[in-house]
Amino acid sequence: MAIPNSFLDELVGRTDITELVGGYVQLTKRGGGNMFGLCPFHSEKTPSFSVSVDKQIYHCFGCGKGGGAINFIMEIENLPFRDAVEFLARRAGMTVPDDSAPDELAGKRKRMLEINRDAARFFHEMLMSESSVYAKKYLAERGISPKMAKTFGLGAVPDAWSSLLDAMTAKGYSRQELIEAGLARKGKKEGAAYDLFRNRLIFPVIDIRGSVIGFSGRILGDGEPKYLNSPDTLVFNKSRNLFALNLAKKSKAGMLILAEGNIDVIALHQAGFDCAVASLGTALTAEQVRLMSRYADNAVIAYDSDEAGRKAALRAIDMFEKTKMGVKVIDFGDSKDPDEFLKNHGIDAFERLLERSENHIEYRLMTVKNRSDLASDEGRLKFLTETTKLLSELGSKPEREVYGARVAKIAGVSPESVENEVAKMLRINRAQRRRQHEKQIIRPAQNLQPVDRTLRYKNEYSAAAEEGIIRCLVRDPMLLKVAEEMGLAAEEFTSEFLAKVFTVLNRRGARGEETGAALLMAELEGNEASQLTVILQKPEAIPNGEKSIRAYIERIRTEKLKSGNPDEQLLLSIKKYRERKDVGGG
Ligand code: GTP
Ligand code: MN
Repeated sequence: MAIPNSFLDELVGRTDITELVGGYVQLTKRGGGNMFGLCPFHSEKTPSFSVSVDKQIYHCFGCGKGGGAINFIMEIENLPFRDAVEFLARRAGMTVPDDSAPDELAGKRKRMLEINRDAARFFHEMLMSESSVYAKKYLAERGISPKMAKTFGLGAVPDAWSSLLDAMTAKGYSRQELIEAGLARKGKKEGAAYDLFRNRLIFPVIDIRGSVIGFSGRILGDGEPKYLNSPDTLVFNKSRNLFALNLAKKSKAGMLILAEGNIDVIALHQAGFDCAVASLGTALTAEQVRLMSRYADNAVIAYDSDEAGRKAALRAIDMFEKTKMGVKVIDFGDSKDPDEFLKNHGIDAFERLLERSENHIEYRLMTVKNRSDLASDEGRLKFLTETTKLLSELGSKPEREVYGARVAKIAGVSPESVENEVAKMLRINRAQRRRQHEKQIIRPAQNLQPVDRTLRYKNEYSAAAEEGIIRCLVRDPMLLKVAEEMGLAAEEFTSEFLAKVFTVLNRRGARGEETGAALLMAELEGNEASQLTVILQKPEAIPNGEKSIRAYIERIRTEKLKSGNPDEQLLLSIKKYRERKDVGGG
């Protein structure tokens, strides 16, 4: 992190978080210096997203996301730290100071992209060469044209342990570099390595700037695992990129078709649907949805027609619904996926499907209908219960009426009875939401354990006190003196995350820098910042700050003694503290 803290301090100081967030979320004032709105990071109907005017932080009681101005921009604009800082700096009319030292990370990244580009070339040349018999045969079997192989830069790799390694080391790349780029794995023997991708069809993953950032390899035929993907690296993040977006972003279609498989995407492009993309072997993420919304106003979900695909489609609908994008779903019926549908029914049929594609309400209703046994009374009742629930979640009355009538017809009952049921459900929903909202606001966190499992506390008793220490210090930086006087060291924290926060606070305090919550968060990862906002929202049991922090420090020390192996560092601190107290107290 080469941007000086003094600059960040000023930047955050000049940014008004309510104004910043207000550009994305409609905020309304509530008591206690807090503003509320609908959370932009998860879908909800009652506001649980709060912005604290005095602390200059945001926090969502619903999904737990939170942080300062920089975290907010990183999250909502999908930007890395540095770019978010630049974004805010432009807004505040400031210039981010130039790095005097060359940025080591940037250099590493650049080199990794070069490795990837050369690897992609190697794979592609292998595919085009005389020797690639099986890969070419496989492409032909799947009906992928040589033109598409070129457009997508597809590649092949022989069934050998080091074909890529050999070619790349000959070009001057080291084994270590190939391992870091996710293209090779460490072997058992010292210094040994072997190729990650062997005997596979290779799909390069290319980002919107046109850089090859990673690879996906499909087995030629049947076998496990079917797909092998590059691990996340310095330049590759599966949750922030989409396969073929580099091509689809140039499409004039005004929409993006989201498929599940790489093969589906290629089949779609080959059929002229040049706006098809796929996620990279993981479930669709909010970041990918946001990324898509930058390039098109409409999304068409074209997932597999099996149960898993349907489930994923419903989940994706929810995610698109909270963006400005319109969303539709294609149901492939008897074909398993877009690729198979195109083969079975052809391009025109797909075109018609696309025009007729169901909006999400229809899709949801039809999903329920398909799994209901409408021949039996019991099945019809179950169908009605499930669909009324769906209908009650629709935002507008006309929508509820139109689809209500449809449901009534399917179930063979009067439209009025469906309407009545929906009205009843609406009342229940409202009451439930109100109760839940009150619960969340009054008791934001009943459970001490962070939502993010990677931050889990090993010792909850100690962690409760450690949280208290952090809370005290953020509220009143003068208390850093008390911590220092008691000899509190970061090593005494049982939670690595809280120790990190304490270290940042201490360092900032020692340098006489600001220690406000929003600034601390700039030095934390997104999940850490979120958890810190949770901690800061908790009420303080003892109002006297100095008394509290002393009690908390005593508590983590007794916890440690109880745990049976107090380390020397701790004993030393305690001894020092007791000595001082003896002197001071007389
Ligand atoms: P075909 O079945 O040949 O049509 O392949 P496909 O490209 O349509 O893939 P499929 O529908 O089976 O899977 C969809 C996506 O999930 C793939 O493109 C991969 O990104 C991912 N995927 C599938 N199988 C695996 C696997 O074994 N491991 C990993 N990591 N990802 C997989
Ligand atoms: Mn598939």
